[in-house]
Amino acid sequence: MAQLRDGFQSRLGFVLAAAGAAVGLGNIWGFPTQAANHGGGAFLLVYFIVIFLLALPALYTELYLGHQAQANPVKALKQAWQEKGPNIGATAGYIGLFGAIVMLSFYSIVAGWMLAYSIEPIARFLGFDQLSAFLVGESTLRNFIFTPVMLILTASIILKGVKSGIETWSRRLMPMLLLLLVALIVYIGTLDGAAQGFQAYLVPDFSHITDPDLIIAAMGQAFFSLSLGVGCMMIYGSYLKPNANLPKLTASVALLDTGVAFLAGLLIIPAIFVAQHNGVEVFQDGKLIGEGRLIFAVLPELFASMGEVGLVVGLTFFVLMSIASLTSTISSTEIPVSFLVENHGLKRHVATWWVTATILVASCLIILNFDWMFGLVISLFTQYQLPLMGLFYFITVGWMWKRGNQLHLECKGPHYWFAQYVRFVCPILMTAVFVNVALK
Ligand code: ALA
Repeated sequence: MAQLRDGFQSRLGFVLAAAGAAVGLGNIWGFPTQAANHGGGAFLLVYFIVIFLLALPALYTELYLGHQAQANPVKALKQAWQEKGPNIGATAGYIGLFGAIVMLSFYSIVAGWMLAYSIEPIARFLGFDQLSAFLVGESTLRNFIFTPVMLILTASIILKGVKSGIETWSRRLMPMLLLLLVALIVYIGTLDGAAQGFQAYLVPDFSHITDPDLIIAAMGQAFFSLSLGVGCMMIYGSYLKPNANLPKLTASVALLDTGVAFLAGLLIIPAIFVAQHNGVEVFQDGKLIGEGRLIFAVLPELFASMGEVGLVVGLTFFVLMSIASLTSTISSTEIPVSFLVENHGLKRHVATWWVTATILVASCLIILNFDWMFGLVISLFTQYQLPLMGLFYFITVGWMWKRGNQLHLECKGPHYWFAQYVRFVCPILMTAVFVNVALK
């Protein structure tokens, strides 16, 4: 049975695909914005602590659940809960699956904006001024054009399967993303004002450090960034060969994802200060003026102030954002697709189009109710669904799943201590953060 499943052919392919799932708008937009708003280096410090203490074990736990089951999240969780209540496990799998659709419904809209902004410098260069204004204008029509384009791009990769689609494209896109990111950091770093940005980013303002908002923001950000809590990592873990070295792979993926978030901070925060140096209004009452404005107003204004070279820098930046989005949308789309294929016997292409159509309907709902729905869906999803599902996975691996759970078989050594950490420390830490916020 296991041999019949499609899967990753190489360790590097898996690491790039899983890091691709993880690296996305969350890293390049979300992380620097949160850092800029929560004391720069203080956020960075808390983020690293949260990644190490909670997100890394959560990543391992999620990959482990999928790897052991060699199946999609609904099957995997049902199996893990076999003795204590398979329906509870399956329900959690469905919640994750629903979460993946919700995430894709808002993510694809934003990814569509990135595509539009990537085309805009070309339109401007060619003198198509009306098209250029349309591409950067906030219109419902633009959403109705570019969201489906993003969904179709995603579907075209998913249709090809894990090895020929996800793995092949991750191997192409991820190195390109890293190259573009480093090139932009080097360029922005040479501009006036950048040094102040490096300082704001790297030197912590400790007055923020005990703020419960900062801690929950860091936790939501870490879970969103590593694509935890919806089953992305579970499904990718299930496509690994049974003899894969999971601890090593987990560390590589987390390192790449956190490294890219850190690098994105080195790009965006100095860029904010360069923009400020050039006269662009950036902060108001100590906060960035409107989080959306950072990517879609502050940076474009900065690029515009650079003259001709700004066209190339703007193009490079938004292509980078589009690539980051695409490697993330493919991983979330794979979850419901694999569920329809494995649990309902649908052909891969039929499942892909059904899932794409469902996401499109959900995206349209958000587009049509944008003002109140967009922000609400994102904050409910990142700050609650993801960490709560992470907590559920800890409880599953730590307490509920006995038969077939290798972690419980060991009574000494690193496995034993890791199992105790997952059983006791992780759930308590996560609950403490939530209680802290509720009592605030
Ligand atoms: N993990 C993806 C991101 O950071 C969803 O954008």
